[in-house]
This record gives sequence, structure tokens and C-alpha cells, in this order.
Amino acid sequence: MKFGTVAVVGATGAVGRIIRERLEAREFPADRFRFLATKRSAGSTITFRGQEITVEEVSPEAFEGCDLVIASTPDEAARDLLPHALKAGAVVIDESGYWRMNDEVALVVPEINPDAARTAAAEGRLIASPNCSTTQMVQCLKPLHDAAGLTRVTVSTYQAVSGAGLSGTAELLESTKAALENGSFVATTFQRPIGFNLIPQIGSFKEQGGEGDGYTSEEMKMVRETRKILGLPGLRVNPTCVRVPVADCHSETIACEFDRPLSVAEAREALAAFPGIAVIDDPLAGKYPTPRDCAGDDRTFVGRLRKDLSCENGVTFWCVSDNLRKGAATNAVQIAELLAND
Ligand SMILES: NC(=O)c1ccc[n+]([C@@H]2O[C@H](COP(=O)([O-])OP(=O)(O)OC[C@H]3O[C@@H](n4cnc5c(N)ncnc54)[C@H](OP(=O)(O)O)[C@@H]3O)[C@@H](O)[C@H]2O)c1
Repeated sequence: MKFGTVAVVGATGAVGRIIRERLEAREFPADRFRFLATKRSAGSTITFRGQEITVEEVSPEAFEGCDLVIASTPDEAARDLLPHALKAGAVVIDESGYWRMNDEVALVVPEINPDAARTAAAEGRLIASPNCSTTQMVQCLKPLHDAAGLTRVTVSTYQAVSGAGLSGTAELLESTKAALENGSFVATTFQRPIGFNLIPQIGSFKEQGGEGDGYTSEEMKMVRETRKILGLPGLRVNPTCVRVPVADCHSETIACEFDRPLSVAEAREALAAFPGIAVIDDPLAGKYPTPRDCAGDDRTFVGRLRKDLSCENGVTFWCVSDNLRKGAATNAVQIAELLAND
């Protein structure tokens, strides 16, 4: 598939910036790149491959002539704009949460279900990139499921402020500075001050009475998106998502139960052999991944592998990945690359 013109929508945001950087660094093959955002950013210029590109205001008509659209906007903008991009004939890859669980939409991690992207592109259907906390977890679950048959997952997340966009990153700095300078605590983007704090709420508690009762929208993304990507509609997933005062990289403790016994050595081997995963697992030597080590890397890192003491066929581990890279921009660019290489 050849892409003449590529448009990045939301090109000025936290994810959009990394999409541009990844397209440039990975030398994505296309003749022309267009960067779109709101009226607020239109007219500003961005240097890309040595050229100045002027940011355009996005509109339903803006997609004329585009072959590929990679979008990273708020949900409402994705809802309103992307059907126009599809109608204009573009292949569309969306980072937002709006379309992911739509039956017509392929939810893709290229190492797991690349054919879903190929089929959707050929049929003019939208392709969605998963939620950042889901992507790194399913990357680990896939090889373990293939090895021993996954039955249950309990996950706790430690999610960086950049998961909430540029305003999240700014608020960590402001909140920390205010606390250090005058003991005051500020909260605008987050539900509570994030400096020197942990917040056990990401998204809203809007589901009541059903499966999602008591869970946040972020947590239910981890449940439903995981089932869809792995093709395991009955998988039991028990998530708790927590915002932490870390700039970049989401960390997760993941406890898996399996149909069959799986030794720690077998789990380590399966994870290390899976594309995009790096195992750093020598705790006695102080070797395990941390957000500071993993920021700015396209890979998902795993460490602290051990037997789950509380169940028969269980393995527990620690997982870190840059939410703006594999959790967002890298995954979308990899989807585009797999289509461009066909
Ligand atoms: N941050 C992450 O780790 C992450 C990971 C996976 C998925 N996502 C998803 O990716 C999307 C973007 O997140 P982000 O973190 O990059 O947010 P962000 O830093 O706030 O950036 C938002 C981008 O969308 C543009 N935008 C805002 N309102 C728009 C509208 N009505 N129409 C068109 N464009 C609009 C903004 O343009 P202006 O500069 O002109 O305001 C900006 O370029 C969200 O749906 C988010 O859930 C984020």
C-alpha cells in the first residue's frame, strides 16, 4: 500500500508530537506530510525532515487528497471528524478512545493482530490504537496465553501524568513546585493535587449497575480492549488504575493465572522471544525496569518475574512502557508501517 499524503491530526499534542518524531525517525515512506490541529495552533510552523510545515486548522473538508490519517485528538473530535476522513478515502488510524470498542473498528497491536489492520484498511474501516495501559499489558499477555492458556489477570497500574496530555505534564511540575515553595497544592487536570500524591481514579465512574460498577472508565478500557485484541471475550480481568507523580512511562504489576502450569523460566523465555518486549530481570543485582530507564524507548520492559504464591498456575511480574511511545505514537506508526510494507 503506498501513501502519498499523510495527515497527522492533533499534531501539536503530547501524542501528536511523538507521532511526528517517530514518522521522521523511522523514515516513514510518503511524499507529503500535513499537520492539523485546532484554530489555536493553526498557522504555527513545525520543522519536519528539514522543512517548515504550517499547521492547518482541521475541518471535515480537510481530508481531501489524504491517503493516510493518523489522529490523536480528544474523543469528541475523533467522533465528529474521522468519518469524513474515511469518506475521503483515507486509511484512518485513531488514538482516541471513542471508536475502539465499535464492532466495525479494528483494535490493533501489530505484534498481536496485524491482519485485523490489513482487513480493515482494505475494507475502508477505521483502525484504532488501544489505550496506553492496555497496549503494554496485552503485549505481555499474548505470549503467555499462547504458552499456557490465560484464565485470569489482576493488574494494578502506576500511570504517568503525560497520559493526560500536555496539561497533565504541566500540572505535575506546577503542583510539585507549589508544594515545595509554599506548601499549597493545586489540581486542575487531575481530581486531586498530583505532586507528592497518588490518585486512584483515572477517567470517570460513570458505569453503574453493570459490569463496570465501581470501576473507572480507564479500568474498563483495560478489561474490554484486552478481550477484543486477544479475541478472548470471557477473559477475567481485574484492574486498578492509579495516577502517580511520574512524568512519562506507565508501570504495571500484572498477576496472571493459567489453564496449565507455567514455570517462571518458561514465562521469561516466552516474553523475551516476543517482538517489542525486553526482559530486565535480575533483582539480586538490582536489575529491573523503572520509568526513568524506559522513557523514550519504543519497547515494553518486563522484570520481577516470579511465581504467584497465592494460586496454583500463576505468574506475577512488573511491566514498564513509555505511554507516549508504544502506548500511543509508536503503536500507530507501526500499524501504518505494516500497511505501507504490504
Ligand atoms: N497521552 C497518552 O499517553 C495517550 C496514550 C494513548 C492514547 N491517547 C489519546 O490520544 C488523544 C490525544 O491525547 P494527548 O495526550 O496528545 O492530548 P493533548 O496533549 O491534550 O493534545 C490534544 C491534541 O488534539 C488537538 N485537539 C484538541 N481539541 C480538538 C478538536 N476539537 N478538534 C481537533 N483537534 C483537537 C489539540 O490541538 P491544539 O494544540 O490546537 O489544542 C492537540 O493537538 C486522546 O484521545 C488520548 O486519550 C493518549
